[in-house]
Formats: sequence, C-alpha cells, structure tokens
Amino acid sequence: MHEAEPATGGLSRREFVREASATGLAAAAATSTLAPFGARAQAQPGDGTPEQIHLTWGEDPSRSVVVSWASPGPSVNARVHVGESPAAGRVIHATQRCYTDGLNGQTVFTYHARVDRLRPNTTFHYSVTADNDRNREQPFSATFRTAPVGHAAFRWTSYGDLATPVTSWALSSPQSRFAVEAVERFKPLFHLLNGDLCYANMNPASQPAVWADFGNNVQVSAAWRPWMPCPGNHEIEFNNGEQGFNSYLTRYSLPHNGSRFSGLWYQFRIGSALFISLSADDVVYQDSGAFVAGPAALQPAPSTGHAPIEPGTSLYIHGYSGGEQTRWLEATLAAASKDHSIDWIIVQMHQDALSSSKNGNGSDKGIRERWLPLFDRYGVDLVLCGHDHDYERSWPVRGCNHDVGRDAASGVKVDTLQPKPVVTAEPADGRFDTSHGTIHLILGGGGTSSPLDAYGVDAANGLPQAKVITRRNRPVPGSGATPGAQVFSKPGADALEAAIWSARRDTQTGYGIAVFDLDPGTAGGKTSITISYYHAPGADRVPTSNYELFETMVLAKKRRG
Ligand SMILES: [Fe+2]
Ligand SMILES: [Fe+2]
Repeated sequence: MHEAEPATGGLSRREFVREASATGLAAAAATSTLAPFGARAQAQPGDGTPEQIHLTWGEDPSRSVVVSWASPGPSVNARVHVGESPAAGRVIHATQRCYTDGLNGQTVFTYHARVDRLRPNTTFHYSVTADNDRNREQPFSATFRTAPVGHAAFRWTSYGDLATPVTSWALSSPQSRFAVEAVERFKPLFHLLNGDLCYANMNPASQPAVWADFGNNVQVSAAWRPWMPCPGNHEIEFNNGEQGFNSYLTRYSLPHNGSRFSGLWYQFRIGSALFISLSADDVVYQDSGAFVAGPAALQPAPSTGHAPIEPGTSLYIHGYSGGEQTRWLEATLAAASKDHSIDWIIVQMHQDALSSSKNGNGSDKGIRERWLPLFDRYGVDLVLCGHDHDYERSWPVRGCNHDVGRDAASGVKVDTLQPKPVVTAEPADGRFDTSHGTIHLILGGGGTSSPLDAYGVDAANGLPQAKVITRRNRPVPGSGATPGAQVFSKPGADALEAAIWSARRDTQTGYGIAVFDLDPGTAGGKTSITISYYHAPGADRVPTSNYELFETMVLAKKRRG
C-alpha cells in the first residue's frame, strides 16, 4: 500500500507520515513540479453525471436538508426530485458553484439543492440528475430522514481525519472505506466529521482528484444521512482563497453564520441539543496549513498564472477572522444559556485543547485562551475533535491551573493554562454530570494511513504528560538530502505539562468511531447521552471492517425544560 513514494527528504513514506504528524503535518510531494493537467484534470463539457453526492442539514434540520454533488463537467439543468415516496414530490433546481484549483488549474463543478419545507422526523426519497447525466434513465436515488422536534431521542456518530481509500494519495488508507461503512452500521441521524477530510493539500498536484475520491467514498453514507464537517488544517490549500478553504467551501453548503466567513463555523439545533461547529485554525498557535518543505519550490501549473511557492512557505491563518468567530461563539452560547429548551451543547472542532498524544501534535494553548473560558462560562458539555489520530477522553474540566507547565527545551516555567479536572475517577454510578465540567474527546481515528496510539508519559513519575503548543512553530530550515539544497520542517510543541485531565487513552489502535445516543428524559427528570466508542484493533497493521466496543460512558444531568 506504500508503493507510491512521495518525495520525503530521505524518509520512507510511513516514517515521513509519522514525522509529518509530529510536526503539525507538512505538505507531501511538495518538491515536484505539477503536471499542467492530469488525466482527470480536464473539464468534460458533455458529462453532467452526478457524483460525490452528500447531504447536509439546512438551518433547521427538522425541515431543511441540502443535497450537494459534483460532476465531471458542467451539468445542464441539475436538479433533485424529492418526496415522501419515490413517485410523489417536487423538483428542486440546483445552484452551481465552481472553483478553479490554484495549483493544477482544474475547474471543479458542484451543485447544491436546498430542500426546505419538509416534515420533521420523516423519511424522504430523492433522486439527483441533469439533462446530461449519463444515468438519467436511472438516476442516483437514496433516502434521508429529517430531524425530530422537541424532546426526542436520536443518535449521531463522529470521527475526524478520514482521508480516502486510494492508497496512492499521501495519508490515504483502505481503512477510510471501512470507516464510512461503520457509520452505516450504526445508522445515526447524522455524522459529525471533525476536520482533515481528505488531505488533498498533501497531494498538491492532484487536489481536486483527491477530493473526488473522498467524495465518492463518503457518498456510501453521506447520501443517506447528513455529514456535517468542520474544516481542519488539511483543508487549507495554497492559492485557493484567502484562507485556502475554497475547495471545502465550494463543496459544502452549511448553515449560515451571518458573517463573510459563512461555512467555516455554524450551529444547528436538534431536539434538546445545540451543535456548534468551529474553525479552530482561527485560534490555534500551531502552524499546520499547507506547507512547502523543499528542497524545490512548488510550481503551480502555468495555466493558473500563480508564481512558484518557495521552500519554507506555510499558509498560517491564525487570527483570520479578526475575532469575529469568537464573538459569534460567545453570542451563540449566551443565547443558548437563556433557552431552557436546550439541555446539551456539543462543540465540534478539529484541533485539540486537551491531547496527550506522544507523536501527534498535542494540545494547543490558543484554544485554551480563546474558547475554553467560554465553554466554562456557558456550560458546554462535550467537545469533539480530531487532528491527533487516536482516541483520548478527558475528565470533565473547568477552569485552569497557571504556571505549571515547562518549556520542553529549557525546562523554564511556562503557563500552559493546564485544564483543571472536576473529578479524577470514574463515577460509582458510571454517570458524569457535565453541568460541572466539559468532557473533551479526541476522535482522530477516521481512516488515514497514519494512526497514532502512543501517549506522553512523564518518565519521572509514570503519569500522563502532554505536549502543549504555546506559540507559532514556524518552519525552520534543516539540511537537505542533496548538498546545498534546503529542506524545511516545523518544530513540535514547545512546552510540556502533566496531563492531569486525561481519563482514558486507547493504546491498541488509532482507529475508531464514537456513537452518541441522546435520551431526552422526562420533565423534571434527567436527560442523558450514552457515548460508545468502537475501535478497530489490528487496523494499524491490516485494515479491517471489524469495529469492537472499547468503552461506554454516560453523561447525565437534570433536564432544564
Ligand atoms: Fe489529521
Ligand atoms: Fe489535523
């Protein structure tokens, strides 16, 4: 599975991938000149056949779903037929959105049909076609279910860091197919995909083709139930918009947030739960967007008109919203705190505030500074992340200890804002009350070729230890494989702290899926969320469809409404 070796500066592909993970992830194969157009890079004007079909929630998941897809060339009269039976229903015409990849010059055609005025908690049949659909006699068809309203039970699933099953792409693995099938095994109402969708930016000559392989892989599930993504560092691509998110934003129709950054962060409400999806690259210190390691410059195709991107260049977007995202988050949380029909607040983001991965990125102080105080003030119950390709669960945390970290190199005291656990033992009744603290889950085991299942340990006392990134790790020059050539890398986390907040870490495998079952409870009683984490032992060596239960926990609290 590792026959296609990208240029990795003397490392084997597997070593490189681990190295890339450890350094915040670098763009692979950045040393080659891009072919102007690959076999799949030419628009095919006659072919409007829908592919990469996926669903997302509209503003109100009980009444609105968006059907999105791509086609090899421009579609003519792209449309969706939707109804409560295959025969009945209405036709909705799709909106076309395109972008031209800023590295290889390929134009991508996507289509979005917003289906409103649906009945809650109802199954709908739909089909997707166009006048120039090769399958128009028997167009693609599937079903979806709208969300329930009021105090209702429902299930969702989550993981991040999925990649594609096409092993010639950097960081892809056959496990990514099994991961999509795992979602279908649990048949959730919807799935949360916590960033690092496909690692297209690690394959800079072929970004649109990687996205297509990702889209066709997830269609197996995402055409049947909404997959709600958040952007990760690997969605940041050179020459594709100010923050590099053009591909992500073109392909997904997500609830509006009222800012010019629509699609990067959003909220939606189902039953008694509020879901908030964030773009953590706005606040993290780590420098982990698209990166040219060298020794050669990255040469965009001549048709793009873009200049070569020199070795050592990274796309660092810290602070890109100028505080707008954090202000939106605070306003959204403040409104939720006043709404007594909301019992649960679940946040999704890609990077981690509490991760003690040994070979991954670790915890980022930027999230601790900007967002953890808001999670505390407004009582966020759960934070679901990816980024480190493993499974880790925190104790419920609230507040922080100051000045207890130390610089990884010098040992000098550093304020890492160490999160403070409110309990440090499994509760006797097996139930955590998250009104007292927020639980963070790292769910980075989607399907990449770079699983991680090793965690930091303080050699002095054998207790969990975390790396913490407290400042930008900008690329630094090292020695090249060829004399005179320069290769850049990014240093790892600069600080260490005792991971007193770490409750459970999966050391058997990096791969898994979390399943969440919300029970609304009854008026005056308790409401709960049962979390079951299933992992795939052995998948680090041989990809497998076998997901087994690793642990179950219950969050329970008094119902407000
Ligand atoms: Fe990742
Ligand atoms: Fe990541």
